[in-house]
Amino acid sequence: MAISRRQFVLQSAAVYTALASIKVNALAKAVEETGIKDLYKHDFHIGTAISGSNMRASDSSFLGLVSREFSAITMENSMKWERIHPTPERWDWETADKFVDFGEKHNMYMLGHVLVWHSQVPDWVFQDEKGKLISREALLKRMGSHIGNLAGRYAGRMTAWDVVNEAIDEDKGWRKSPWFNTIGADFMDHAFNFAHDADPKAHLVYNDYNMQNPAKRAFLVDYIRKAKKRGVPIQGVGLQGHVGLDFPNIQEFEDSIEAYAAEGMRIHITEFDMDVLPVAWEFMGAEISTNFEYSDELNPYADGLPAAVEQRLNDRYVEFFKLFLKHRDKIERVTLWGTGDGESWKNNFPVVGRTNYPLLFDREYKRKPCYDAIAALKK
Ligand code: GLA
Repeated sequence: MAISRRQFVLQSAAVYTALASIKVNALAKAVEETGIKDLYKHDFHIGTAISGSNMRASDSSFLGLVSREFSAITMENSMKWERIHPTPERWDWETADKFVDFGEKHNMYMLGHVLVWHSQVPDWVFQDEKGKLISREALLKRMGSHIGNLAGRYAGRMTAWDVVNEAIDEDKGWRKSPWFNTIGADFMDHAFNFAHDADPKAHLVYNDYNMQNPAKRAFLVDYIRKAKKRGVPIQGVGLQGHVGLDFPNIQEFEDSIEAYAAEGMRIHITEFDMDVLPVAWEFMGAEISTNFEYSDELNPYADGLPAAVEQRLNDRYVEFFKLFLKHRDKIERVTLWGTGDGESWKNNFPVVGRTNYPLLFDREYKRKPCYDAIAALKK
């Protein structure tokens, strides 16, 4: 059937518009499905920590964002001793099981956090029914059975475990924790051996904060050397990476990456976030038993981040990610300690009730300029 010139032009325009919109939709979809993890996929995993409430809520838009943007996940709190094993007989598996199912479904790098730590562990672990400290042998038995149950339940599914967290004190050697005080310095060897027995395929990590501290670095390097001679299955070191605009010294941070890697360790940046608020203390770490009084002076950006501070945040993110890229051959994973600024512990630590901006997504889960800045490093 013959059509007029006018009809031909109109039909062609309609076909063109339809094709253009298919192309735009396909592009939009590709951008939407591409996350920061894809940009860095030839370098290292990019991860996030998921809170128990977010995991249990199973909100598809939040979990969709996580699986689109990240290739590695950690439970923020739900696998810690006090949460998963609150009393001698009770195990609360529900949240951790959901986490492992979710990670498996999306083929993610799953980090179990954490088997042995001095914090967020119930007192009963170290005591008998009368509140008296138990013996070394009894505590080793409890440690072994906790690790055996927990790492054993997810054996073959969990990619890696934070086996021991924060066992070293700056400048003082072993932290005088209940683990150290009752068992002695070999508690760490035992923890790694128990974890390896429970899940021989899992990659086993020692994790700590202030890892740029030269004395801490020297102590850990010495431990790793000796432990490896004893056959202790330690394979990775986690630098938590709770950093700020002015700390730590980036050269010292790099020295530590190199020093641990030189001992054959894979490097993990395990809990990265960047504090932009006034430092309420001299001490720069993450000893979570410390708290400070709130004051407005300590909370200057409650109504938004000034452009100049946002710029410093972006530049500092870029500085660290350039360092991570430089050492991409040593680094296994860079995990952010949360996804959106609103969920970060940094709003409540070391001062409760502040407004902080430490992560890659804002309070509405929109990508922030620091996200774009580190994405741009890969474009
Ligand atoms: C330490 C722990 C984490 C978390 C942070 C604070 O870094 O390893 O599990 O508790 O403190 O949120």
